[in-house]
Amino acid sequence: MSIQTVSTTSFPGQRPGTSGLRKKVTVFQQPHYLENFVQSVFDTLGDCAGKTLVLGGDGRFHNREAVQTILRMAAAHGYAKVLVGQGGILSTPAVSCVIRKHGALGGIVLSASHNPGGADGDFGIKYNIANGGPAPEGVTEAIYQRTESIKEYRISDAAAIDLNRLGTSRIEQTEIEVIDSVADYAELMQKLFDFDAIRALFGGGFRMCFDGMHAVSGPYAKAILEGMLGAPAGTVINGVPLEDFGGHHPDPNPVNAAELIALMAADDAPDFGAASDGDGDRNMIVGRKFDVTPSDSLAVLAANATVAPGYRAGLKGIARSMPTSRAADRVAEALGIPAFETPTGWKFFGNLLDAGKATLCGEESYGTGSDHIREKDGLWAVLFWLNLLAASGKSVEQLVSEHWARFGRNYYSRHDYEAVESDAANELMASLRIKLATLAGQDLGNYVVDFADDFEYTDPVDGSVSKQQGIRIVMSNGSRIVFRLSGTGTEGATLRVYLERYEADPTYHHLPTQQALYPLILIAEQVGGITGWTGRAHPTVTT
Ligand code: G6P
Ligand code: ZN
Repeated sequence: MSIQTVSTTSFPGQRPGTSGLRKKVTVFQQPHYLENFVQSVFDTLGDCAGKTLVLGGDGRFHNREAVQTILRMAAAHGYAKVLVGQGGILSTPAVSCVIRKHGALGGIVLSASHNPGGADGDFGIKYNIANGGPAPEGVTEAIYQRTESIKEYRISDAAAIDLNRLGTSRIEQTEIEVIDSVADYAELMQKLFDFDAIRALFGGGFRMCFDGMHAVSGPYAKAILEGMLGAPAGTVINGVPLEDFGGHHPDPNPVNAAELIALMAADDAPDFGAASDGDGDRNMIVGRKFDVTPSDSLAVLAANATVAPGYRAGLKGIARSMPTSRAADRVAEALGIPAFETPTGWKFFGNLLDAGKATLCGEESYGTGSDHIREKDGLWAVLFWLNLLAASGKSVEQLVSEHWARFGRNYYSRHDYEAVESDAANELMASLRIKLATLAGQDLGNYVVDFADDFEYTDPVDGSVSKQQGIRIVMSNGSRIVFRLSGTGTEGATLRVYLERYEADPTYHHLPTQQALYPLILIAEQVGGITGWTGRAHPTVTT
């Protein structure tokens, strides 16, 4: 075997977005396309000699081919070692965990998260740095600049590695170790949560359903829930990762995980339901006939965190993205710890976690996590809930209802208008911006506007400023409407309208969500002119 230098020309548009470079599989299948990007990553990093790289993906179509290419390129760049998940599989949280545990220089995650997979679906690649978190914008921008001027890449002509067999082999001077995809991650979970208590819970007949959605978390959930914690076989459904996710949309929300929601609504429903997404970093929590919003999940975990051994010492702070409901802020206040409000995007939590300012983080988009790694973590949230259920002996509904009785309830819903014409969506936002100055003090329905602004964030650690992160209309009683354009959509624009009503009185804690929010839905239409701009009378997705 030998190292080849291959001439190439640049491809336009290799700029990583919020979560790496995501394109159609067919785009990644073009000769040199992946190689150009990976060479640009290695060029940006500089000298990789003596360093360790972590590599794995969510198992979607094209995963194995891409892994083999990257292994041969890593070897051509003098890495001492590459840790690659068995079968090319590593969930996003597992990559973060393995990077941190083994002191790697960084890692490459092959995933397009919850975007559809298969030959006609999406593929993606993302670089994570030594703290285990996504590369910051300075790094991704440098990678992009490099892709624009690339002329050649280096790759070994070695034969493919057997990814199914655990153990080490060599390409050039680089040691390639195929690692158990689950082991390091499971060991970390065991340190954070009371596995004995959870084992006793399952031993006592507690029933659960985990929907792996034919994506990456199936093997993790099987090994940990059914293997280590003794949950009965069959607890994990859709547990085998498929290259096309079985044709489904691996994004856990009540719309996409309809099978799980139907199961949990039945009279003989299990005690607890959960689901995760394509690359295993999102989570959805469901009780028997009872859905938990991600915002409430964060607040409940925060309020009860000390039941879990990993959080016994208490929390340093709680961070949430701006559109996430303010339920967690009330918990932070009661605990006497800081609450942080960041723009949408998990990367904004990285500095707070590294600086020891926050312990738990969460987003309305079904993401929850902590300082144990630097990505959001689906199965971690599920284990946290199991620990809480085991420690309290209560049901999901009881825990959440008692939480509301103590802190008040933040009714919450997100209305998405997908594939709206980009110009119309931008104009809707622009017209809202013009109105902002006049909104404060105005009566809207039964509400009085406390303040309205375009959310701007100054990072308390590095002082960087992020502007225009979403329009907030905040009412005097704590209710809110937020308008924001999605940063991850692939077709036209997606308008997200986030609705939140704060209700202190327990008499009103059990209304149907959309009914409870109806007055705010009318105000959102009145102020935003949604139907006029988008031509849509109703949202495409309501969660
Ligand atoms: C990704 C990010 C999240 C973000 C979500 C939705 O999953 O990691 O941090 O909340 O996308 O973003 P969007 O811009 O589509 O609302
Ligand atoms: Zn994901």
